[in-house]
Amino acid sequence: MCGIVGYIGPKEAFPVIIKGLKRLEYRGYDSAGIALIKDDLMLYKKKGKVADLEESVLGKELQANIGIGHTRWATHGEPSDRNAHPHLSNDGNLTLIHNGIIENYASIKQELSNKGYTFSSDTDTEVLLNFIQDIKLNEKCTLEEALRIALKRIVGAYCILLMDKNDPSTIIAARKGSPLVIGIGKGEHFLASDATPIIEYTKEVVYVNDYEIAIVKADELILKNLGNEKQTPFITKLDMELAAIEKGGYDHFMLKEIHEQPSTIFDCLRGRLLPQIGEIRMSGIDNNLEKLTSAKRIVIVACGTSWHAGLVAEYMFEELCRINVEVEYASEFRYRNPVVNEGDVIIAISQSGETADTLVALESAKEKGAFIFGVVNAVGSSIPRISHAGAYTHAGPEIGVASTKAFTGQLAVLSMMALRIAQAKGTISNERFIHLMKELEAIPEKVQDILKDTTHIQVIAEKYMNATNALFLGRGYNFPIALEGALKLKEISYIHAEGYPAAEMKHGPIALVTEELPVLFVATKDSYYEKIVSNVQEIKARKGMIISVATEGDQIIPSLSNDTMFVPETDEILAPLLSVIPLQLLSYYVGVKKGYNVDMPRNLAKSVTVE
Ligand code: F6R
Repeated sequence: MCGIVGYIGPKEAFPVIIKGLKRLEYRGYDSAGIALIKDDLMLYKKKGKVADLEESVLGKELQANIGIGHTRWATHGEPSDRNAHPHLSNDGNLTLIHNGIIENYASIKQELSNKGYTFSSDTDTEVLLNFIQDIKLNEKCTLEEALRIALKRIVGAYCILLMDKNDPSTIIAARKGSPLVIGIGKGEHFLASDATPIIEYTKEVVYVNDYEIAIVKADELILKNLGNEKQTPFITKLDMELAAIEKGGYDHFMLKEIHEQPSTIFDCLRGRLLPQIGEIRMSGIDNNLEKLTSAKRIVIVACGTSWHAGLVAEYMFEELCRINVEVEYASEFRYRNPVVNEGDVIIAISQSGETADTLVALESAKEKGAFIFGVVNAVGSSIPRISHAGAYTHAGPEIGVASTKAFTGQLAVLSMMALRIAQAKGTISNERFIHLMKELEAIPEKVQDILKDTTHIQVIAEKYMNATNALFLGRGYNFPIALEGALKLKEISYIHAEGYPAAEMKHGPIALVTEELPVLFVATKDSYYEKIVSNVQEIKARKGMIISVATEGDQIIPSLSNDTMFVPETDEILAPLLSVIPLQLLSYYVGVKKGYNVDMPRNLAKSVTVE
């Protein structure tokens, strides 16, 4: 939520920051702003996208070698020019951008109002800024010291960049809970919420830790903790190419990322899945085999699409490893005082590795003695850093707000985990183990088959694009895919859609079925096939419009359906890796045909760093 960029060095700061904000726009895109310092402070803010900000400053004074910029996902206060960041302190000297939430802002605001401070926005950020100004004045201390005192008093999450117009050689940054990366150039520094704005200038970065303050000058980076002790910056080399964060000829990132899946799944399996020698090698698992195989219970915590991957994993782990699995919405798990026993394994699934709900759930489970295993896409993000062990999904940067390739990466990692643990526990026969490894190895090629020709899916999208509601139904391994299909359609095409286990229909939702309601069945050939055929019949008898995802060669499901999207055959455990692909495409094409911005759907943001 919210993208943050800062620059200090010999370059013109404005173009570096604007370009960086465009790269971070997936994190929030309801307003944007920039502050630059030369002889004076220049502050420009605009409701809308970064491009609107850019247009609004044409012809204005923009020359500076230091600046900070922000693209916002509103929390406190509607999207508007005045609520956009950066904010300005009452004395006109300080300017601040912030990603996160200051939970006790109301009481601080009251305190400041009593002292005569006024506020020109509804944000918690402006409160924090004036709080810092007030401490600086009262304590007669440096800005750095005032910030340190303020941070000790606030409750919440933040990544902030702060500048003083009287010190045009310093950006002060701090983080707790929201990410911050500092790029180290030659006589220059770049600051950002993730590495994408930095990658074209330098590959050397420092991931700032929680409770650290960075004092950043063109040729100097000092890291300190809140106790004012210097910390040694740990420099990491970025393993990412510029091409990975560009559209590469596709109309949208979402389409590019859907089409990348044969190679991202392949990359995820590479070096880990070795059917030729009958082995799965994953260091995060191998080094913790005893903990994982002796676990009485696995709790999977995640949100959204990642939670759907968790549901698929529940079926896999229970079937293959015979371990009791619970899948929890991270936000609910954290706050309902769950029973967590020593020896429990918590698997956190997250694309961004920064989702606040998942992070806080992990922190509290860790305190209670659970073993934390992260399945994460974003390398160097917060979840891997607080996990005891983990496995990256290696899908590369996912920029489209709707998760696609990260989801199939999660499924690939979770399949390998389930297989490896089952093998170690002896709950799978060698024959089945080898069979499933071979099937998994064949998945990238089968995904490629589905993507070869999408014309048919585009026709279906055109036919149903004006629907106002849709139902997605599946059973067994395809039930989570029904949920995921419904979520994708909702977020990308704004069509109200619900996912259900197909058998649940008759317990209520079937009342919704009319001739106008598209009912989408995920009905590939598996052990539930006969049952789902009956469910399809039940909808057909009530004249619902049936769209299905079926296995190539199947005759029955297509004969009952108005439209069918085919996927190649595979073992039912791995079916989700294939059956989700047509649903991703369907949502994409419906969204595009309706003229929506599929990469940045309304009200959403990638990387949800507020609870
Ligand atoms: C939907 C989507 C979200 C995320 C959710 C969790 O397409 O992307 O539902 O899956 O916000 O995010 P991560 O996986 O980053 O923890």
